[in-house]
Amino acid sequence: MHFSARMIFDFDTVVRRRATGSIKYDRKPALDPFWVADMDFVSAPVILQALHQRVDHGIFGYSQAHRGVIDSIRMYLGNRRKVELDEDHLIHLGGLVPALSLAARAFCKDGAELMTCTPVYPPFLNVHRDVGAKLLTVDHVFINDRWEFDWEKMEQAVSERTRIFLLCNPQNSLGRVFSQAEIVKLAEFCERHGMILVSDEIHCDLIFDEQATPHYSALELPAHLAKLSITMLSPSKTWNIAGLGYAFAIIPDDSVRRKFSAARGHTLAEINALAYYAAEAAYKDGESWRLELIEYLRENRDTLVKFINHECEGLSIHSPEATYLAWIDARQLGVDNPANFFEQEAGLFLSDGVLFGWPGYVRFNFGCPRTRMLEGLEKMKAAIVKKR
Ligand SMILES: Cc1ncc(COP(=O)(O)O)c(C=O)c1O
Repeated sequence: MHFSARMIFDFDTVVRRRATGSIKYDRKPALDPFWVADMDFVSAPVILQALHQRVDHGIFGYSQAHRGVIDSIRMYLGNRRKVELDEDHLIHLGGLVPALSLAARAFCKDGAELMTCTPVYPPFLNVHRDVGAKLLTVDHVFINDRWEFDWEKMEQAVSERTRIFLLCNPQNSLGRVFSQAEIVKLAEFCERHGMILVSDEIHCDLIFDEQATPHYSALELPAHLAKLSITMLSPSKTWNIAGLGYAFAIIPDDSVRRKFSAARGHTLAEINALAYYAAEAAYKDGESWRLELIEYLRENRDTLVKFINHECEGLSIHSPEATYLAWIDARQLGVDNPANFFEQEAGLFLSDGVLFGWPGYVRFNFGCPRTRMLEGLEKMKAAIVKKR
């Protein structure tokens, strides 16, 4: 018999989120939502405590990063990524999506090209529009029992006008954690073609088995490759504080950093006063909560993968190595648009694969109490059984 370690934190309670101004719940209130990437868990108690303290101060004027948040980022990068923070390289941001757009605006002017691999988090396929750049996409391929880069196709697609490569690692939606060898090879590909590697690592603290699939950050690249990199991180996914809006970029090269910063112009608001304090608490004191979260999510993942592959004819999934997002292949279901099918037949709000560049797939967010996840999965199964 397997006894799981006793949990200190509560991930089982279903908290009502309807009518709280939640994008996830209130965008289509008639549906049961398993789409956008935020979790249905109350954030870590240390974060709530830090926020309460900051709120009790009562003044919310313009904010800058205080010493505590910078030191907690330094500690986090040292402990988790084994890299030393150079504060001059650090840029605070109100979110990671605006940072992706900044990268495009900084480096893809005058109709230059931006490259990424699909399927991928939708803004990767849209930020080029902010600067009128051209988007080049290459599909990931399933080989060696995992999703990999298609190096040959990438070499064929790239041109001298391609200025940046947008990398998502760990990969949303495939759930892959790319290896050191893959990231180094990608950075060399970028260097060879004069591209900046923009590495979105927002999901890097949500890896199920860090021994088997360790995260290799672009921050760890050898200096000559790191020079051409922009690494973007945030505590927002892991500690479920996306609504507070905080992310940061680390850019080692002075001229790359200056161009990136200059692209801001007057387009970004000051960063939320509360966000800095939540980020500080997450990185400084949030590790025990994070570790239990991973345990909980791992069991959700295993339950979901078994359910989809054994109970849902026409659906299949390859077990994700990271994130709380399940990328489900519904091409054998025999419906035109699986997301619409599950919306109409099961009352579910799932993410439509089309938005990630791959029709025929849906993405299911399992960052929720297990009972809720199982209810969602049962609704999917019932819709499939009814159809047959
Ligand atoms: C890969 C990736 N990058 C960025 C974001 C969003 O970041 P932010 O809320 O900081 O804009 C998400 C959210 O799902 C994501 O999955």
